[in-house]
Amino acid sequence: MNGTRIAFRALLLGGLGTAGLLLTLDAEAPPDWALFLGRMHPLVVHLPIALLVLAAVMEWLGRWPRFEALQAATSFVLGLGALSAVGAVAVGHLLALGGGYDEATLAWHRWSGIAVAVLAGAAWVVRWLNQWADRRRYERLYTVLLAAVVVLVGLAGHFGGTLTHGAGYLTRYMPDPLRRIAGLPPRAEVGRPAFADIDEAVIYHDLVQPILERHCVSCHNPGKTKGGLRLDTPEQLLQGGDGGPVLVAGRPDESELVRRVTLPPGHEDLMPPDGRPLLPLEDVELLRWWIEHGASFEMTVAEAEERSYGVRLVLTRLGAGTEDRPTGVFALDVPPPEPTALATLREQGFVVLPLADEVPFVQVRATNPTGTLDEAMLASLRAVAPQVTWLNLGRTAVTDAGLAVLADLPHLTRLHLERTAVTDAGLAHLRGLAYLEYLNLYGTAVTDASLDVLAGLPALRVVYLWQTRVTPEGVQRLRTARPDLEVHLGWQPPDEGTPAPTD
Ligand code: HEC
Repeated sequence: MNGTRIAFRALLLGGLGTAGLLLTLDAEAPPDWALFLGRMHPLVVHLPIALLVLAAVMEWLGRWPRFEALQAATSFVLGLGALSAVGAVAVGHLLALGGGYDEATLAWHRWSGIAVAVLAGAAWVVRWLNQWADRRRYERLYTVLLAAVVVLVGLAGHFGGTLTHGAGYLTRYMPDPLRRIAGLPPRAEVGRPAFADIDEAVIYHDLVQPILERHCVSCHNPGKTKGGLRLDTPEQLLQGGDGGPVLVAGRPDESELVRRVTLPPGHEDLMPPDGRPLLPLEDVELLRWWIEHGASFEMTVAEAEERSYGVRLVLTRLGAGTEDRPTGVFALDVPPPEPTALATLREQGFVVLPLADEVPFVQVRATNPTGTLDEAMLASLRAVAPQVTWLNLGRTAVTDAGLAVLADLPHLTRLHLERTAVTDAGLAHLRGLAYLEYLNLYGTAVTDASLDVLAGLPALRVVYLWQTRVTPEGVQRLRTARPDLEVHLGWQPPDEGTPAPTD
């Protein structure tokens, strides 16, 4: 009896102490130790699950004479289960402080978890009372409590799974007969977009808002307005945050919303913050496209005619223009890249990713901005010459001579050379790039002498020339020669510490 009392006090004091400590934490700026402990939750949470279910099984089996011996240990297992449930709730609370979860699911998970801890504690106390009070009186209460604990463990686990894996994780591969019983749509319909016809989809409502819902709203909502910003309604989006507006209609590169999701990993302004997964490239493309077209809340896909290459890809994947013939490089018959070629590129220090599912094209990025970019590295690009469409050599040691390789990469549509040592001499190698749509030369030493090359690139749609030696008169000439070309001279997203010019 004495041991039980000590255990009871430990449970009570432990619970109260932890609760007190947790309540003193600043939810807006949780300390690192809290976030560190929080991440133990997925580990710790298995203890109460196992112990409480075990306690119920022991209780049930213990009613048969053959397993009577189990009865002696049931209280112990149940008490330990209750204690570990309190612990799991505590670290779970810390994990939630970090944010980034769907609020409604989090609330369900939190409260079912707390209910497990409370009811398991109560069951344990009642079982203890049963030992000396008139058994019949509490027997039924105890059974109900224990059954409720088991059900709640299941529920809390389910909501926890939904939080980590997203809704529908559990039922994704459920066979159709079971799905019918559970009232779920047949498997074939899962994952289909919510609109019947992509051309009639409203860009904001059907494409943009779901992106914000998936990646941002958990921290930018009425309950949690991080940075003073809410992203759950058009009005709030327009209102901006503590730092002012987050949207500049028509100018994605000047919109905080875009800047925040295109910063390099580890940058302190990057959203979603703290090492959470980056926004997928195609989501970034859609956001930019929407802002480019004036950030309208009514415009439909069909109305926004100008589409970058990336947006066309995304829309195709959402079911747009399946009857249209592919254009640009997509109309070309290009074989998939050789796995060995990809391996060589990776060995040379490039990041290589497919451009999309089921297309042969790849995007390639150099990862050693400070190191060298030697001949061997650049030469390895030739192995994927037909497939490479996006190439990012920005902020590398690439030289004018190194750019000679570009002449052998005819299908480039997007090229980053920002903040490199390239000059007009290197730019001459771009002349043959018939599909190049996007070129970033920000922070290079190119001069007006290169503008002819730019004007001569037939597919070029966007060029960045901020902080180059190009003169305003030169730009004027380029704009006259190529009215369809967007020439950006303004502030560029990913650069630390450079002030945004007022244009
Ligand atoms: C885990 C929580 C979290 C998530 C998820 C998140 N943010 Fe944030 N966001 C913050 C915090 C905290 C701040 C305030 C600190 C700062 O400005 O960096 C902030 C600030 C911002 C700001 C600046 C507001 C201002 O005016 O100062 C923008 C813009 C922003 N977030 C956009 C986004 C976008 C877009 C997404 C989704 C891709 C996103 N956030 C996802 C936590 C989050």
